[in-house]
Amino acid sequence: MKVVSTINEIHAARRSFSGTVGLVPTMGYLHEGHLSLIRRARDECDHVVVSIFVNPTQFGPSEDLSKYPRDLDRDLKLIEPLGTDLVWMPTAEIMYPQGYQTWVEVEAMTRSLEGAHRPGHFKGVTTVVAKLFNGVQPHKAYFGQKDAQQAAVIRQMTRDLNFPLEIVVCPIVREPDGLAMSSRNVYLDPEQRKAATVLYRSLSAAKDAYDKGERDAEKLRQLMKDVVASEPLAQMQYVSCADYETLQELENVTGKSLLSMAVFIGKTRLIDNFVLE
Ligand code: PAF
Repeated sequence: MKVVSTINEIHAARRSFSGTVGLVPTMGYLHEGHLSLIRRARDECDHVVVSIFVNPTQFGPSEDLSKYPRDLDRDLKLIEPLGTDLVWMPTAEIMYPQGYQTWVEVEAMTRSLEGAHRPGHFKGVTTVVAKLFNGVQPHKAYFGQKDAQQAAVIRQMTRDLNFPLEIVVCPIVREPDGLAMSSRNVYLDPEQRKAATVLYRSLSAAKDAYDKGERDAEKLRQLMKDVVASEPLAQMQYVSCADYETLQELENVTGKSLLSMAVFIGKTRLIDNFVLE
């Protein structure tokens, strides 16, 4: 497994590949969710590239950039046995050198949900992902459904800018009690860790109601709010029942839809979602 950092190195390594290339973009501190993306890329592509870069431009001023968990040695040990060919670990200076001034921004669909609460977040994500696509020039890029809005925004950017690649979105990987895997779960103390199952519990309650025939989106949102409110350690930021592609809030659930939420458990902000088909 080769490890590179500069733009010249990634371009040279890319030129040495023949056949299909799959890219798994990450910010490191890998968990089973990331590993499932790498395994899928390994199954589907001749070469697998994993990028590890904690992208400063997608963190707000009050967010956890300096605290974001990092453990590169552990990450490399986890991904090598999965058959990763190449790891790209650029520095912030490589990605955003002195004088950097070009940004990629998806408009309407980044203003709701995560975008409404994390101003500038998606501009940072789409910019870095465009740069990762240009560095690696993959045939397929793999993202987790856990960041449902991110996946939708990246699909939109890929269409709008005609990136010649396929976006593959892989299912959420959960702990046995339902908590969605996330690098941020390490911030939770044991009591908070128990409380954090409230996201899964409230999404499950709404999904059960949907399965029993409830199609009123406001009723589904209220059900999710009620379950979150029943957990003393949880502070809801938003709940949503929206169209899967456009992310517009719904009145009635008719087509493919997304139940999603952001909840603070103490200072840790967790997100989760279910897809209603
Ligand atoms: O999902 C993430 O880890 C990041 O947002 C991504 C896609 C690697 C861009 O920095």
